[in-house]
Amino acid sequence: MTTADRYVEFATREAHGVSPAYERLAHAVARDDELLALLDTLPPAKRQPQLLLGVVRWLGGPVDDPAAFRAHTVAHWPAVRAAMLTRAVQTNEAGRCAALLPVLAALPQPLALLEVGASAGLCLFPDRYAYRYGDHLLGAGEPVLDCTLTGIGPPTTRPEVVWRAGLDLNPLDVTDPADVAWLDALIWPEHTHRRARLRAAAAVAAADPPELVRGDLVDDLPALAARAPAGATLVVLHTSVLYQVPPASRAAFVALVRALPGHWVSAEAADVLAHPALPSPPDGSLHNVLALDGTPLAWMRSHGQSAHWFG
Ligand SMILES: C[S@@+](CC[C@H](N)C(=O)[O-])C[C@H]1O[C@@H](n2cnc3c(N)ncnc32)[C@H](O)[C@@H]1O
Repeated sequence: MTTADRYVEFATREAHGVSPAYERLAHAVARDDELLALLDTLPPAKRQPQLLLGVVRWLGGPVDDPAAFRAHTVAHWPAVRAAMLTRAVQTNEAGRCAALLPVLAALPQPLALLEVGASAGLCLFPDRYAYRYGDHLLGAGEPVLDCTLTGIGPPTTRPEVVWRAGLDLNPLDVTDPADVAWLDALIWPEHTHRRARLRAAAAVAAADPPELVRGDLVDDLPALAARAPAGATLVVLHTSVLYQVPPASRAAFVALVRALPGHWVSAEAADVLAHPALPSPPDGSLHNVLALDGTPLAWMRSHGQSAHWFG
């Protein structure tokens, strides 16, 4: 796939209907030979649309007008290039906890939560956020995570988490303003509610920063899992991570996690983990499969906006 193809695919499959600004910009980049040539000086994995658009926003560039975006990107290319080489797409979305909560709350408590691909670790605090499932409120304070549940009643308690740790190739630090600014830049321009949610969730995490270990989800998982305290249910958790992991490592990870004691909770795109015979998703929007110990339970919108339990 050429770089132009990647930008057209991003515009039509991911940004269309979600971010008009990014849809416009991605189409414009795909038609711009000079920008494409600059992008092609980067390693293939670093030519991603989300990375370019996030970096330009992070550096204060305009993303509402394609001509202004182009002029700024070309004029500041050395800085854009350097940031694209050092930063990665590692969006951290606390909203996902709302869709995971029915599963986490139903496991034997207390929990020892180990998240692989944790980014800044915001999904390690499902016990500290507040939730709104229709009229049903759970917990207090900010952020309040909204989720529409169908096919299952709302959870009545939050999980009790007695140990939490994350593993990531490149952990981000919620107490570092530059890392939080990068997470903010990864949120698409029109999603102001997600920006407010990020700030609130980052404040919760910064008040008691989680332990985040730099490492790989295959090579370094056993050692971290071995540190979970006895007497708590070990839960290995991951959301929107495995699409970034090569298929051979994905298979090794699945074998590893199945051999660990405790439970495995995953929320990943349907094409990254092999699930036989899934029902059709509830509508045409992108959904992840929420699964417990490899058994699919529900379709979940990627940011936790809704979860639709299988009948
Ligand atoms: C899109 S982010 C999702 C972050 C978080 N799970 C969430 O849902 O908000 C994916 C994260 O997975 C991490 N990652 C990718 N491959 C990994 C690997 N082999 N081992 C550990 N972490 C990995 C990336 O660094 C990134 O922080």
